[in-house]
Amino acid sequence: MRTVTTVAELREVCDAARAHGRTVGFVPTMGYFHDGHRSLMRAARAENDLVVVSLFVNPTQFAPTEDLAAYPRDLEGDAAQAAAEGVDLLFVPQVAEVYLGDERTTVHVGGITEVLCGASRPGHFDGVTTVVTKLLSMVGACRAYFGRKDAQQLAVVRRMTRDLNLPVEVVGCPLVREIDGLAMSSRNAYLTDDDREGALVLCRSLFVLSEAVQRGERDCDRLRALLTDMLGTEPRIKVDYAAIVDAATLEPVGRLDRTDSSETLVALAAFVGRARLIDNVTISVSGEHATVDLGRTAVPAAEER
Ligand code: PAJ
Repeated sequence: MRTVTTVAELREVCDAARAHGRTVGFVPTMGYFHDGHRSLMRAARAENDLVVVSLFVNPTQFAPTEDLAAYPRDLEGDAAQAAAEGVDLLFVPQVAEVYLGDERTTVHVGGITEVLCGASRPGHFDGVTTVVTKLLSMVGACRAYFGRKDAQQLAVVRRMTRDLNLPVEVVGCPLVREIDGLAMSSRNAYLTDDDREGALVLCRSLFVLSEAVQRGERDCDRLRALLTDMLGTEPRIKVDYAAIVDAATLEPVGRLDRTDSSETLVALAAFVGRARLIDNVTISVSGEHATVDLGRTAVPAAEER
């Protein structure tokens, strides 16, 4: 694996690959890798000739009150994990390489960035869409891999690449969970043992909702009530939102078995200790049959296997 820090080096490698008819798989990240990140690298490795991972803690997607300075970092460990997953190129730019400091351009996706996480993190998605557009423009035509853990981010990026005709195929990958069910996140590093116990109510309430759906419940008001009741039993968390929405438009839905047969996203966010955590499941209903995508359980890092 080669590590580069400049846009020029990144472009050269990606352009050369495409000039030789090779496909490029790209995984944008902020580092501190866990199996969620590694699963994206594995998917990219399986489907492309050249695999590029960017590691950039993007300052513009953090509000001044948020955890930019505290965001966990481990470049050496990350590079070892990426190499073990067969990544070809690791792009680790300094902030000044990505942001010249005098920009007049922001990429804004309307509507779907103002709800859910966007409502409590104003400006967050502008930071995400701007940096993802910049990274995609540096990498060029590629398949880009995003986790369904960040379901709203995935919906926003899909919408943006479509609206802007970006030469990118966005690939959504399964949410990866710890053995106990907690959705993997770099921010889980902030949790004390006690916080972590409390945090488990997020996935557990989604699992209970999933069972209700499997028993035939299709009414979203009743499902929402089930969620909020269960979340309400855990004093160690403060719920930000518990929403049942269309997975693409993020508009609230009344029933899972609506006629347009689109996917439904059940998404949660809560403050636990110093962390703000999110989790979700995706549901699709066809006739009497409901499929609930709960994600999957992590596999150990390559060097631990
Ligand atoms: P980061 O939080 O590092 O996540 C990088 C990618 O890993 C995202 O696509 C995210 O959805 C995915 N991911 C994180 N945890 C996951 C899990 N438990 N299961 C599956 N996938 C998971 O998301 C960002 O960085 C940034 O916003 C970024 C897109 C890089 C722009 O700065």
